[in-house]
Amino acid sequence: MNLDFSVLNGYIPYVMKGTAITLLFTLVSALFGFIWGTILSLFKISNIGPLRWFATVYTSIFRGTPLLLQLLLIYYAIPQLFQYDISPLMAAGLAFGLNSAAYLSETIRAGIQSVDRGQHEAAMSLGIPYKTMMISIILPQAVKNILPALVNECISLLKESSLVSVIGVEDLMRRANVVGADTFKYFEPLVFVAVIYYVLVLILSTVARVLERRLRRSD
Ligand code: ARG
Repeated sequence: MNLDFSVLNGYIPYVMKGTAITLLFTLVSALFGFIWGTILSLFKISNIGPLRWFATVYTSIFRGTPLLLQLLLIYYAIPQLFQYDISPLMAAGLAFGLNSAAYLSETIRAGIQSVDRGQHEAAMSLGIPYKTMMISIILPQAVKNILPALVNECISLLKESSLVSVIGVEDLMRRANVVGADTFKYFEPLVFVAVIYYVLVLILSTVARVLERRLRRSD
């Protein structure tokens, strides 16, 4: 067997910097996706027809085409259509956030609808304004109910973030390829980043499990 991890000597700090970029990227696109997804989910349950229609069409388009394609379309469309020279990292954050919002809007909508209707009615009869009711009463309970689905979404984003290497973002995946090109050995750096991705996902799921347990205890 011909396995030589010493090819990684001297490249570890370089690859680890990619871990930071991957994590930061995941965090930013998850936050963006969550906020936009929440707004879309409110559109979906609103009684204003055009908003409902917009959110439905939006979801259908962003779920119906490959994320990789959306990434490339956004990366090339913005300079061409708006004469704005977008950085690969920004294009990627935008594409991932927009895509994630489509998935999350459905999850969050289900979460909101899982909150007992009585909560809504009680808030209304107390004269609490819609915005306060949503932000302080309904959404916190909805998020608690859908926590496992939200964790799944974060895991998806983390792993799918490896796609951004195709437009030149220097994330983990790209750095593994650079090390491969440098040393003419691809297998070892790829195995190395595979382990990093796996450990990151393990950490994420452990944190989520602890959080869920703590939230359940507060019931
Ligand atoms: N590979 C899928 C695609 O190409 C992943 C979409 C992202 N998934 C997600 N839950 N955000 O569309």
